[in-house]
Amino acid sequence: MTALSWGLIGGGEGSQIGPAHRLGARLDGHFAFVAGALDHRPEAGREFGRRLGLAADRAYGDWREMLAAERARPDRVDLVTVATPNATHFEITRAFLEAGFDVLCEKPMTMTVEEGEEIVRLARETGRICAVNYGYTGYPLVRHMRAMVARGDLGRIRLVVAEFAHGHHADAADADNPRVRWRYDPAQAGVSAQFADCGIHALHMACFVTGQEVERLSADTVSCIESRALEDDAMVNFRMTGGTVGRLWTSSVAIGRQHGLTIQVFGEKGGLRWAQEQPNQLYWMPLNRRLEVIERGEPGLSPEADRASRVTIGHAEGMPLAFANIYSDLAEAIRARKEGRAMDPAANLYPRAEDGLRSMAAVHAVAASGRQNGAWLDARPPMFRAD
Ligand code: NAI
Repeated sequence: MTALSWGLIGGGEGSQIGPAHRLGARLDGHFAFVAGALDHRPEAGREFGRRLGLAADRAYGDWREMLAAERARPDRVDLVTVATPNATHFEITRAFLEAGFDVLCEKPMTMTVEEGEEIVRLARETGRICAVNYGYTGYPLVRHMRAMVARGDLGRIRLVVAEFAHGHHADAADADNPRVRWRYDPAQAGVSAQFADCGIHALHMACFVTGQEVERLSADTVSCIESRALEDDAMVNFRMTGGTVGRLWTSSVAIGRQHGLTIQVFGEKGGLRWAQEQPNQLYWMPLNRRLEVIERGEPGLSPEADRASRVTIGHAEGMPLAFANIYSDLAEAIRARKEGRAMDPAANLYPRAEDGLRSMAAVHAVAASGRQNGAWLDARPPMFRAD
């Protein structure tokens, strides 16, 4: 297997998400890290790139320089990851798609619904891959949940309950810390803070597992730390295309909670519960029978879960490996296109620009509903309302 070539924008030294991408992209040998514009400070980015093993002429100081140089190379990168701060995603992703690159963009994909629609149109027109890093959908047992729902084990899905609540911004004395403050500043964060940062992971997870989309929602958004202009806590009720009722809680002031991403699905014939902090167990509660604990790596799991799993049962697989599954899906999509064949259906699970757009429509609907005392609003992007 020849490695595909990969470039990273953002994710510089000390960044939160850069290491998970560098691990995830290379873990299975699908991608070789050959190019990067890693930092907003050009020299720091070049220097860090060289230290990570990039050739001097591909350790770029700026993403525009990287775009110009890579598009002129016969061995240009096969995939570009955009892991810069939110407000830059649209401009960088659009520029690389227009130049014919496949892109994996961090969430949120854009800041506005209009920008999201432009990215979806561009990806469709150019035929390029535009994926969005809802990386937690890469966990094997999340994929198994989706497979169990799809094959009807739970019957009709009545309820989905998603949470992403942590306590890392709960200290009022820390609210003026510049690393925290920008997240609640509308000029830098947009219309939403906690929902746009974490709530969209939980909402996307609800869609991924049920195979349904969000149609309308009602939100109660609050700033528990009153000096904040944007919400640090939100409760969102929603309705889905298949009639499922959705409940979602997201918070950054839930003291004692660490990562706090959980998903529960309740159908006519049973319920499932998965928590990201214990990702190797899935709780299956069949109607009128005892609880079963499904273990990652046990025999008889779905092909999607088997494909996403590497080490034997009882050994922990965690978040960088979930990200690696998104990269593994993308490698299969790129190779299948190069080789003119259909891709492995068990790999066809990576989140797409359409998902990034749906999230952005939900972010704006949550913010608007919060301002209107929880009014029920259409959460679909305008371009999908006719579907
Ligand atoms: P961070 O602030 O820790 O790091 C950002 C990095 O991007 C820094 O190295 C900075 O120098 C670099 N950078 C900024 N502007 C740049 C530019 N114009 N060109 C090149 N590099 C530039 O941010 P963090 O937490 O790593 O977040 C980055 C993105 O990843 C955000 O959009 C965030 O929402 C997303 N994220 C996603 C997660 C997930 O689970 N999918 C988890 C954490 C963050």
